[in-house]
Order: sequence, then structure tokens, then C-alpha cells
Amino acid sequence: MVYGRRMCRSFDGIPLDPAVVDGLLLAAQRAPAAGNTQGWQFLVLDDPEAVARYWAATLPESRRARFPWPGLLRAPVLIVPCADASAYVTRYGEADKAQRVAASGGEKAALASTAEAWAVPYWMVDTAMATMTLLLGAVDAGLGACFFGQFEHEPAVRAAFGIPDAFQPIGTVALGRPDYADRSSRSVRQRPRPPIDHVVHRGRWGSAER
Ligand SMILES: Cc1cc2nc3c(=O)[nH]c(=O)nc-3n(C[C@H](O)[C@H](O)[C@H](O)COP(=O)(O)O)c2cc1C
Repeated sequence: MVYGRRMCRSFDGIPLDPAVVDGLLLAAQRAPAAGNTQGWQFLVLDDPEAVARYWAATLPESRRARFPWPGLLRAPVLIVPCADASAYVTRYGEADKAQRVAASGGEKAALASTAEAWAVPYWMVDTAMATMTLLLGAVDAGLGACFFGQFEHEPAVRAAFGIPDAFQPIGTVALGRPDYADRSSRSVRQRPRPPIDHVVHRGRWGSAER
């Protein structure tokens, strides 16, 4: 499953069985989460009108002719994973966590006071883990999927679908049956994976060969 996953940027446009999509969302929910907080939410767009509204908000007609992955627009399902920072502040203030963080001193205790106190925003980590689980579930289901960023279109996506300010969309997953006839369904970025010794530091940082 892991080695079979590549981003798919072209779909055949055939609607997916809603039960399959639900299964992938349940799989995403099995992702690991800090303090088991599970501070993720998923906006699911699985009907043609909603999918069209998403693309209208993010890719104006005038830019479509130049868009390098036209087959991406045929994805029958779009999922926008959103991270909920406040869930972590609340969770780390709960009794079991609060006892442990109090015992560890002030720095950790601050986690229960404000999202800004978190050096590593676990809501982003966890939502990314859930998204990765969804991507791997898509491989298992014989589907294609592509995670992509929203960039400057985030406000338009928020407005089009009523995503509250408190939730941070981390990107969008396009989901569907791959259209292998379309070259753009293959990963466009041909950067090779470096040899493993270039990214692994054994024993101490700096041991990786360059
Ligand atoms: C955080 C993140 C953002 C990405 N944004 C985009 C994007 O905006 N458009 C896109 O086509 N692919 C995007 N990708 C997919 C990467 O380009 C892809 O994962 C990478 O080239 C490796 O290819 P592979 O996933 O097929 O192995 C993104 C991936 C990640 C993890």
C-alpha cells in the first residue's frame, strides 16, 4: 500500500459509491492523534454541484485552459481536511493531561492556555496524519487521490462552504478512479527519492552522507 501510493491528477469522473468514501473517512479517523484529541474535521464535497462550486472558487474559467491537470477537475469527490487548534488547548487542559503537564513544569502547562504556546502545532500534525491515512486507504480501495494546497484561494473556499474561522483547512484531497490514459494522472514531479543515507542520521546529526 505504501509503495503503491502516488498522487493521481486525472480521474475518469465516474461517481464513487458513497459507502467507499465513508469507509475512507472512517479509516482517516483511525490515524494517531496527540492525546488522542482527534482534532480534525472533513468537509466532503461529493455531488457535482458542490465540486463545481469548489472549482469555481479556486480556478476561474479564464485560467482553466492553461491549467496543467484538467483531469483533476473530473474528481467526483473532494475532501477538505481541517485542523481544530482549540480542541488541543481544551484536551491538554483535561484532568489526565493537566496532571502530567503540571508535573512537568510551566512550559507544558502553557499548552492548555493558548494555541500559540505550542512549538509544534499538533492539530496540523494530526490532521496531516489523518489525511495520509485517507490517501493510503484510497490505495487499498483501488482509487486515485491527490492532496493539493489551496494557497490564496483559502478565503474563497471558506466562504463558499462556510468553514468557520476556528478551523484551518490544510489543503484538499481529490478522490476518484484514476484515468491512466491521461499522462497528467502520473506524478508530475520527477524529483527522485534521494538515497536513504542522505536523509537518515544515525547516532548523531551530520552522519548522513551528502
Ligand atoms: C503538503 C503538500 C502539498 C502539496 N501540494 C500540492 C499541490 O498544490 N499541487 C499538486 O499537484 N501536488 C501537491 N502535492 C503533491 C506532491 O507534489 C507529491 O506528493 C510529490 O511530488 C511526490 O509525489 P507522489 O506523492 O506521487 O509520490 C502536495 C503534497 C504535500 C504533502
